[in-house]
Amino acid sequence: MTTAFIGKPISRVDGWQKVTGGARYAAEFDVPNVAYAAIVRSTIASGRITSIDSAAAEHALGVIAVLTHRNAPRLVYRAHKGVVDPVVGERLHVLQDDRVMQQGQPIALVVAETMEQASHAATLVRVTYAPGTATTDVTSVEPVLPTQQKTDQGSTQPSETRRGEPEKALAAAEVKVDQTYVIPRENHNPIETHATIASWEGDRLTLWDKSQWVGNVGEEIGAVFGIPAQNIRVLSPFVGGAFGSSLRTWPHVTLAALGARVAKRPVKLVLSRREMYYGVGFRPHTVQRIALGASRDGRLSAIVHDAHQETSSYEEYSEALLDSSRFVHSCPNVYTRHRLAPMNVHTPTWMRAPGEVSGNFALECAMDELAAALGIDPVELRLRNEPKIDEFRNLPFSSRSTRECYRVAAERFGWSLRNPKPRSMRDGRWLIGWGMATANYPANYAPASAKARLLPDGTAEVTSAASDMGPGTYTSMTQVAAETLGLPIERVKFSLGDNVMPRTPPHGGSMTMASVGSAVQAACRKAREDALGRAGVNDLADALHRLGQPVEASADVTPGDAGSRFSMHVFGAVFVEVAVDPELGETRVRRVVGAYGAGRIVNPKMARSQCTGGMIGGIGMALMEHSVVDPRNGRVPNANLCEYAVPLHGDAPRAMDVIFVEENDPHVNPLGVKGVGEIATVGIPPAIVNAIYHATGKRVRELPVTPDKLL
Ligand code: MOS
Repeated sequence: MTTAFIGKPISRVDGWQKVTGGARYAAEFDVPNVAYAAIVRSTIASGRITSIDSAAAEHALGVIAVLTHRNAPRLVYRAHKGVVDPVVGERLHVLQDDRVMQQGQPIALVVAETMEQASHAATLVRVTYAPGTATTDVTSVEPVLPTQQKTDQGSTQPSETRRGEPEKALAAAEVKVDQTYVIPRENHNPIETHATIASWEGDRLTLWDKSQWVGNVGEEIGAVFGIPAQNIRVLSPFVGGAFGSSLRTWPHVTLAALGARVAKRPVKLVLSRREMYYGVGFRPHTVQRIALGASRDGRLSAIVHDAHQETSSYEEYSEALLDSSRFVHSCPNVYTRHRLAPMNVHTPTWMRAPGEVSGNFALECAMDELAAALGIDPVELRLRNEPKIDEFRNLPFSSRSTRECYRVAAERFGWSLRNPKPRSMRDGRWLIGWGMATANYPANYAPASAKARLLPDGTAEVTSAASDMGPGTYTSMTQVAAETLGLPIERVKFSLGDNVMPRTPPHGGSMTMASVGSAVQAACRKAREDALGRAGVNDLADALHRLGQPVEASADVTPGDAGSRFSMHVFGAVFVEVAVDPELGETRVRRVVGAYGAGRIVNPKMARSQCTGGMIGGIGMALMEHSVVDPRNGRVPNANLCEYAVPLHGDAPRAMDVIFVEENDPHVNPLGVKGVGEIATVGIPPAIVNAIYHATGKRVRELPVTPDKLL
């Protein structure tokens, strides 16, 4: 099929706005007469507030109001759960009572004329507590089975699964590995911190918010305040990174609206970097035991994957830690169990390939340990255990290009030159290591809507309430629309980030291209056919000119039954080269090659950029990121970008190769795309850890692999 725009490496249509400062982010909107809010947060992790003295704050210069649980308006907090919210438990209610359930919980709000006055007055609020017993040390909690577990797509899944006789098979296995892998808490740390501007007119509210799901913001805040969601306008045209932290509507959005209601003025609330560690979610600390059993010729006979993760005391957040172990490799005997450790912390949330990247880390490290124990090449071991179907769901794959990915990535990397012996490769004083891993992520597709409006001048306006936190939604949707309409790309304008626009799923789970893209295609197709039919001509611009008035069409797309007939995932293979300084223990990632079977690629330039970004995120996870938790009180002493290390340009490998293997999957969705937002993070942490083993002979099973762990 020849295409004009789909599949072309088109540069970002909003690039000029971004580089000239024309793109406006939540905190940057000029709202007349705006006041500023600052949050006072608890300094204990559990207990009750016995007194709050806000007199000094109230009398401080510029202060308009100080809200605490004693004087804040009562909020109805009607039941509401979006698919991004945990199914079990109840969200934090702010300023409604004297209970403290987490370190850093909002316990007062100061509204003042300026941000500095609000922040200063917040320090003047004096609070005394009756501390309760706080659970803040994740290593001392006995994990429990979740009440109910759902996938990130909302379908129920068991927390404990068994096929065959895993314990027996493990006991009888000729070769086995049995290890525990730990990933510490990590925070999203987008460069744009969370911000909300709230403005009331009667019982109508406008929110300028950093959000990955504007549709849900209106519904959540409507439920909290007891007003119809239709009364709330949510605007979020640009998002400066999010990685999952803006999927839920967190309590600070409620606080901004509450402050605005009491102050009777628009209120702007911007979280500080430090506050980003106490209220917008995080990747939970996970502990995963994996045991693999195999025959001497490298056939897996048993997989036991027993994992637990932290959650809050008031909501059960659980992520897909076990998915990879259940179906990525062929194995007749598999046991998986997922448990939760409730802590006095706010609820963790989706972060960069949530669940998959963590579970896959444990599995793919264990596979490497098994390969070493067997004396079989790690790629060969995976090839010997390549499944014919999804053995967990007993379904065929809609497409699965793992073999092709191993082949092309290994070839590009030069894997055949690898000496399997640890510490056998050097570059001067540096120890060189090569490692690899398999990657997988679900090909998500959810109901979405879009509207196309064609104008007599031959231009088109296409809208959908999607987000663009960086992947290039503006551009990719413009490509799909221009392609479908048959109009020049500069005559098509795609808009997003407004909850009055047609509904979309959350901008997460790598499903925007699949879902919103299919809706845009459907709406444009309808509008085009309508215009051509009514004008009775074949050229759209001609038709629109003749009609002399706008032609509008909306379309909704809904997944059919493909999801129950096929197992649908993106698969990939990643290879990395590390160099480890034997004296300093420092690890540098020198090269990464990733090959992915991701269906149709709408824009290879942006898809590559997505993948290199994901790879760099994986490097952060492997080598740097760690939200240190003080076990005594739940505080995060490194809640800043100085001591919480994230990869910078100098940490990115010189060479990052992204290969999309040819894959034509007619089942996943009308566009045939699988999404590349998260797959590229998956597989990088184990590939790095496996390469470090190859370089040094040391197995590190606790992330991040900082120099102290290699000395
Ligand atoms: Mo992504 S963690 O689904 O924003």
